[in-house]
Amino acid sequence: MPITVNGSSVPLPDDPRVSLLDLLRERLHLSGTKLGCNQGACGACTVLVDGERIVSCLALAVQYDGRAITTIEGIADGDTLHPLQAAFVEHDGFQCGYCTPGQICSAIGMAAEVERGMPSHVTADLGADTITLDRDELRERMSGNLCRCGAHNGIVDAILDVYGAPRAADREVAA
Ligand code: FES
Ligand code: FES
Repeated sequence: MPITVNGSSVPLPDDPRVSLLDLLRERLHLSGTKLGCNQGACGACTVLVDGERIVSCLALAVQYDGRAITTIEGIADGDTLHPLQAAFVEHDGFQCGYCTPGQICSAIGMAAEVERGMPSHVTADLGADTITLDRDELRERMSGNLCRCGAHNGIVDAILDVYGAPRAADREVAA
């Protein structure tokens, strides 16, 4: 069975040792997904599989037989940026940009986890119906995506802008 990458059907590699990251970058030439550590520690290679985030360097392509992969190339709607892409621009959420595709894919998957009520290590009330995505929750949930440029403050602001609870400062201004 093929896999689907950004809406297009793609044959699986004959070699079962090919990682999903190598399939995307080397064979499909989708170079938006980045190779960083190649051992699951940096998050640069994060993509979405049926809406869930994974690190593609640790995944074998053949595992995803019949599944739908979304990379950073598939996030925008044509020429219209995804709201999170636009927020990264607005909040200076990048410097060199190397970690950015992984940050954005990861954040989209992370927001879906929050929406489903999946608690994190810092969630105070494990029985709560809804989880508020505040800075602590966000930092914990995005801790697998590193930024060597140190753009984390802008990254956090961008993600909170799209998915977060109203910030205290904003509430004071609005009050
Ligand atoms: S390259 Fe996959 S986690 Fe670093
Ligand atoms: S913007 Fe350079 S590594 Fe994050």
